[in-house]
Amino acid sequence: MGKSTNITWHDTTITKADRHAQNGHGSCVLWFTGLSGSGKSTIANAVSNELYRQRINEYVLDGDNVRHGLNKDLGFSEYDRTENIRRIGEVAKLFVDSGKVVTTAFISPFRSDRDQVRALFSGEEFIEVFVDCPLEECERRDPKQLYVKARRGEIKDFTGIDSPYEAPESPEIAIRSDQLSVEEAVQHVLGYLQDKNII
Ligand code: PPS
Repeated sequence: MGKSTNITWHDTTITKADRHAQNGHGSCVLWFTGLSGSGKSTIANAVSNELYRQRINEYVLDGDNVRHGLNKDLGFSEYDRTENIRRIGEVAKLFVDSGKVVTTAFISPFRSDRDQVRALFSGEEFIEVFVDCPLEECERRDPKQLYVKARRGEIKDFTGIDSPYEAPESPEIAIRSDQLSVEEAVQHVLGYLQDKNII
């Protein structure tokens, strides 16, 4: 595929700051990362539900869903995961520019990929949320019966089994999802957004 040439960036007349002023709140990405079965999607969705209830402009980008459309050409090799996260990062940036509080729920197992996404954002717009749950507990939950298949060798390159997960070293928010209820996790995240005056 050829690279685009002769292209120019156009600034829009209505800015992100205009949208913040109209919405009455700021925008950011809550980047949830964690093992399959750690509770990323559940907590990200619960956070978005609460934001919606509070009339905050929100949107959820979820791994399984995005892989049905935008990223349906990508699998789970290292290269494909990196490309998956790169594209989601760019999409999240557009949503943040549109004035939303975006929650994303992707395993995003590689630290360098998450750091590349972080670099797309300014200031406190990128909030890494580590959904920390021991592998044994994720495997015990196994909501989609994927770990059992990975252990039987029926799925290759499964995160935590035969593909690595690099935990964040200094996430803005860390949630022990085996110790907190979903409701407690939501309050923790919402509290962070309030402390930072984003909402
Ligand atoms: S990644 O690593 O960020 O690119 O993955 P992501 O886009 O979040 O997709 C993870 C979901 O895909 C399913 N699945 C797998 N996960 C990990 N490894 C392998 N090999 C794999 N194959 C399929 C699985 O349902 C993941 O969803 P979650 O919600 O994380 O359980």
